[in-house]
Amino acid sequence: MFDLTGKRALVTGGSAGIGLGMARGLARAGADVVLWGRSEDKLADAAADIGRFGGQVATRSVDVSDEQAVTDGVAAVVDLLGGLDVVVVNAGIGSSLQKFHESTTARYRAVLSTNLDGAYFTMRETSRVLVEQGTGGSMIVTSSLGALQGAGRNQPYAASKAAVLALANGCAVEFARHRIRVNSVLPGWIATDMTGELQDSDAFNSHVISRVPMGRWGTPEDFEGIAVYLADDASSFQTGSSTLVDGGYSLF
Ligand SMILES: NC(=O)c1ccc[n+]([C@@H]2O[C@H](COP(=O)([O-])OP(=O)(O)OC[C@H]3O[C@@H](n4cnc5c(N)ncnc54)[C@H](OP(=O)(O)O)[C@@H]3O)[C@@H](O)[C@H]2O)c1
Repeated sequence: MFDLTGKRALVTGGSAGIGLGMARGLARAGADVVLWGRSEDKLADAAADIGRFGGQVATRSVDVSDEQAVTDGVAAVVDLLGGLDVVVVNAGIGSSLQKFHESTTARYRAVLSTNLDGAYFTMRETSRVLVEQGTGGSMIVTSSLGALQGAGRNQPYAASKAAVLALANGCAVEFARHRIRVNSVLPGWIATDMTGELQDSDAFNSHVISRVPMGRWGTPEDFEGIAVYLADDASSFQTGSSTLVDGGYSLF
């Protein structure tokens, strides 16, 4: 159990934060991993980090909001690895807070194009590969606690994350007959580049993080285990699930 040797994985947004944490877990468990992100520098640093586990590691600069880039990128992954078994649909951006009645269409479109269009293009193109391959597979989709809770001044982000949850659930039902499992992970407050300003805010730490029962920010390392579990045959009867990784925040 939890041996991913021979599994071929794609991690979008794998060059930093939660995606890098998941990629690290997959590589540590023996998988070959391709990382996508936009910045070549971040990708190079991430590849150096997970290269130490001995499996194959490759990177490609892909903006997931660009449909053609995703199509070409998936073809390149399949060429390189000879197929695909695990897809982590994780690339996403946060958004500055804006009063809803003053919020702009440009901001709304920017968030939706990466977080929702990007997930849609990635899931559609990789599911085509998995179905044709006929050997099953696992998709792991990063949604957010924000998909479930009211997110004042951040509605477009929350809407994008609720939408990817719906995409994942629909795909779980449709692809079960192909033994392709689709499960979602819902992070709470995690210390990554996305939450950098909040990590520096005394008000946020005292009003929000103090209410996390585990008493701390989550870290990218907290996502290694869930990625390995959902990628592995250990979870072979699990699909359409939504796993909160929030230190208990949503319950309190
Ligand atoms: N941090 C939290 O508290 C939190 C909570 C709930 C959910 N999430 C979700 O977790 C996921 C990862 O977030 P994170 O906190 O780990 O953020 P992060 O540290 O900023 O990492 C984001 C990753 O996505 C990549 N990325 C961003 N836009 C992209 C695009 N258009 N095309 C391809 N790659 C792109 C980034 O690389 P480049 O910038 O180089 O493209 C980076 O690798 C996101 O989906 C986010 O919504 C985060």
